Amino acid sequence: MVLSTGYSKIRTAVFISGTGSNLKSLIKFSKIKKSPISIEFIISNNSKAKGLNYAKIYKIKKIVLNFKNQNLSETRLLYILKMNNIEMICLAGFMKILSKNFINKFKGKILNIHPSLLPKYKGLNTHERVLNNREKFSGCTVHFVNSRLDSGKIILQKKVRILKNETESSLAKKILAQEHKLYPKAILKVFNL
Ligand code: GAR
Repeated sequence: MVLSTGYSKIRTAVFISGTGSNLKSLIKFSKIKKSPISIEFIISNNSKAKGLNYAKIYKIKKIVLNFKNQNLSETRLLYILKMNNIEMICLAGFMKILSKNFINKFKGKILNIHPSLLPKYKGLNTHERVLNNREKFSGCTVHFVNSRLDSGKIILQKKVRILKNETESSLAKKILAQEHKLYPKAILKVFNL
């Protein structure tokens, strides 16, 4: 990925919809010297997202856009991102599908984390489907975002073993713990660090 604005770190926006535990891990990562990114904006489509609290705690700008009118929300969003010189976007539990037009404006600069070993189990309810299919392994994937859902180029994956008595919630917890390590590693890889 190539930098353009001349800031010392890549000005990054994180998009969330819920708890924001990946956001928290990315904020912590952004503060270490080796990190190529600084987190400048938190975007949420959900005004009740718990993760929005990290904006206050870490003094990061935030905005909620409800996406009811996706076109309007994305137009505003593009303007805000431009005004704040945002160069990269990390989706972290963001449950809206961005339009082709939006993705093209940030081509190759949007990353996502997904709780499965892509290309298996794209979309929602991954843990439920994985368990129903009696898979022996699952995991998480960081990938570039393209206009097809959960289908962009894979950057890094982490595999976890599924235990005999695994439940959706134990699997989700186990994978989430790995996500927190995988996302920073994937960002380092994107910048060849
Ligand atoms: C994470 O498990 C993330 O992989 C998943 O939502 C969770 C968000 O947790 N994302 C998706 O399912 C995207 N399709 P967090 O809000 O605690 O980071």
